[in-house]
Amino acid sequence: MSSSGPLHMIDLIRKKRDGGALDAREIGFVVAGAVDGSIPLEQLAAWLMAAWLRGLSLDETRALAMAMRDSGEKFDPSRLGKVAVDKHSTGGVGDKTSFLAAPLAAACGVAVPMISGRALGHTGGTLDKLESIPGYRTALTLDEFEAVLTRCGASIVGQTPALVPADRVLYALRDRTGTVENPGLICASILSKKLAAGLDALVLDVKTGSGAFLRRREDAEYLAALMVATAEGAGTRTVALMTDMSQPLGRAAGNWIELVEAVELLRGLRPPESEDLRELSLVLSGWMIHLGGKAATAEAGYALAEAALMDGSALAIFFKMVDAQGGDVSVFDDMAGFHKPGAMHVLEAWESGFIAEMDTTAVGMAVQRLGAGREKAGEPVDAHAGVLFDARRGARVEKGQPMATLYATSAARLEEPIAILKGAIHFSERPLLAAPLVSRVFTRETAEKHLEKTASSF
Ligand code: URA
Repeated sequence: MSSSGPLHMIDLIRKKRDGGALDAREIGFVVAGAVDGSIPLEQLAAWLMAAWLRGLSLDETRALAMAMRDSGEKFDPSRLGKVAVDKHSTGGVGDKTSFLAAPLAAACGVAVPMISGRALGHTGGTLDKLESIPGYRTALTLDEFEAVLTRCGASIVGQTPALVPADRVLYALRDRTGTVENPGLICASILSKKLAAGLDALVLDVKTGSGAFLRRREDAEYLAALMVATAEGAGTRTVALMTDMSQPLGRAAGNWIELVEAVELLRGLRPPESEDLRELSLVLSGWMIHLGGKAATAEAGYALAEAALMDGSALAIFFKMVDAQGGDVSVFDDMAGFHKPGAMHVLEAWESGFIAEMDTTAVGMAVQRLGAGREKAGEPVDAHAGVLFDARRGARVEKGQPMATLYATSAARLEEPIAILKGAIHFSERPLLAAPLVSRVFTRETAEKHLEKTASSF
């Protein structure tokens, strides 16, 4: 039950703890208190845990997304004179599609104002990866963001204290309090950033499988439908693609080594271990180009994106964007020479067989503990830590064959990740049936139908 009198955080914690639903005014109170510091972190953390355990209703999720969106400044892309389209993933391991999809879509004539995040839980962060380029600034003012977009067609930045400050506070707190993996909280966090960017259209990449925040397929489908319906309700044309995260995407998981893999593809190279990354980047940018009105279908958008990959125009946009955001583009002249990990270890297959199941969340934890992620908010990350895989799921390996190279800040940080990886990777005698890379697409109609059927169980 809501009231019109004064609100107290302790009442809202109890209400959520006991399974009640907060109304928009109460949600607004929580968000405002998170931003201005009037609600102490322990109370916010308790509320987040209650929300995680009890779940958020559709109305609560919508109210949270909108209050977070409105918690700070907003970007108005209308002055760019182009349709503004972005993509966002729900978080994965080795997911570097943004470095490809943003310049690919920009090369085909849409504007890509991308507000991204940092490493969260076991997943990597686009901003941490970009900051491995010396000088690259992820904290731009909105005027600077607009200037980069006007010059390059794409810009990838982080939240600033002024832009979606509520997510800045809540995202870091969720990361430290085990409250990330909840559909309503993920939906509100992602959409607050995307809607504050004033997008005309949005392509969501919702991960399923062992490395996704929501591992159960029905949870990931619910999240996809929830995000599409919420964003469409706020006036942004949105689709969600359910994509496979039962192994890291591509061959690299870390910071700098992920940029290397993306730039190799932008240069037209096609290492077989990066084929899934190339394909998914083209599919996502195909949808961005289609929703941006530059292609009649997503398939036609794919063909345009592939042409922009092959003729080097997307690479030129990526470098232009890096330069415009203060990054030293010369590091891409000698990518191997720039890579200076503190220590490394080659992991050899400890059995012969086909690489079968992978606990990709554990793989992500190993990557973070090598130094690529942080244990406490604000800690620096190591640009050069990470794992480079030589063999992917389904490959046949012989005992003693190199499977992956681990890069760490120091030799002391290698031991635990080696043990984690050994526990995370399993072998089988027979080859696996590969999971489809894109298993389902949600549009507004299918999302609404899905929610009608499933919302009561979440
Ligand atoms: N990415 C986000 O931006 N927020 C989440 O909660 C999860 C993934």
